Amino acid sequence: MEIMAFVTMGPMLKRAQAARYGIAAFNMIDYNSARSIIEGAADLQAPIIVQVSVKTIKHWGYKPIATWVRMMAEDVDVPVALHLDHCSDADVIRRCIDAGWSSVMFDGSSLPFAENKARSEEIYAMTEAAGVGLEAEIGAIGGVEDDKFVAEDSAILADYDECLAFVKNMPNLAVFAPAIGTAHGFYKGQPKIAYGLLEKITAAIPIPIALHGGTGLSQEQFDRCIAAGCAKVNISTMHKHRFIEGFIAVRTEKPKLEEPLPFITGQYEAMKKDVLDMIRAFGSAGKAAHAAGREG
Ligand code: 13P
Repeated sequence: MEIMAFVTMGPMLKRAQAARYGIAAFNMIDYNSARSIIEGAADLQAPIIVQVSVKTIKHWGYKPIATWVRMMAEDVDVPVALHLDHCSDADVIRRCIDAGWSSVMFDGSSLPFAENKARSEEIYAMTEAAGVGLEAEIGAIGGVEDDKFVAEDSAILADYDECLAFVKNMPNLAVFAPAIGTAHGFYKGQPKIAYGLLEKITAAIPIPIALHGGTGLSQEQFDRCIAAGCAKVNISTMHKHRFIEGFIAVRTEKPKLEEPLPFITGQYEAMKKDVLDMIRAFGSAGKAAHAAGREG
């Protein structure tokens, strides 16, 4: 068997964008959650991105996470990338690369444009030298990310001309995250997605686009964003809620249960159901071989 397990995300995202399907990027919580993400992808023969928030790394440490994900990736025949989600700290990025992450995100979106561009280019030089993929962001995606909060109505759409200038010196960027009106967390109102801006960006920039704030978007919104060039679709809030609800459901059903493993199984099944649903929603079921470049 040809192993296509552990990969960098750039090449598979390019293939996904060209064929207009989305690769799910779930924010893992613990070993059990990483298992639900990777085994869910394997069940559907789908490429997958396991991404990690900085606070989750601070909780578990670099080495355990890299070891879990790489070990699980070796047991499946689908492409798996390990990605660092929103991070503005070059030291954390360096440590992830050293620990074995296959891609990282530098989020300089709270900086003035010129500074975000300059810092992103510095990190790009680091990731290119290490053979690791980079995601970079401009504009402001609404909602909570790690401990940073951007009110939904003060989220700022990416500026088209700035997008062109931003990526100019980073031709091999694995994925670009311009703010297009989506937000992290549950939506309070209807998200106003700037489809026109997204289409203009993908028509001019040959880099796959990341869709942040996947929780709560409708099938139609996923379809339109993926058709317009979003190749990486991020899901965090939904997964976190399922982690908690999966535990509570077992406790409610069996209030006297003293054995812990059924709780872990309940969480696993609740999280995995979402993984399967989202992979199907993004059109990437059955795309493992395509994403790995094994078929046209
Ligand atoms: P949600 O929490 O809205 O699913 O967004 C996830 C995300 O974009 C992570 O970067």
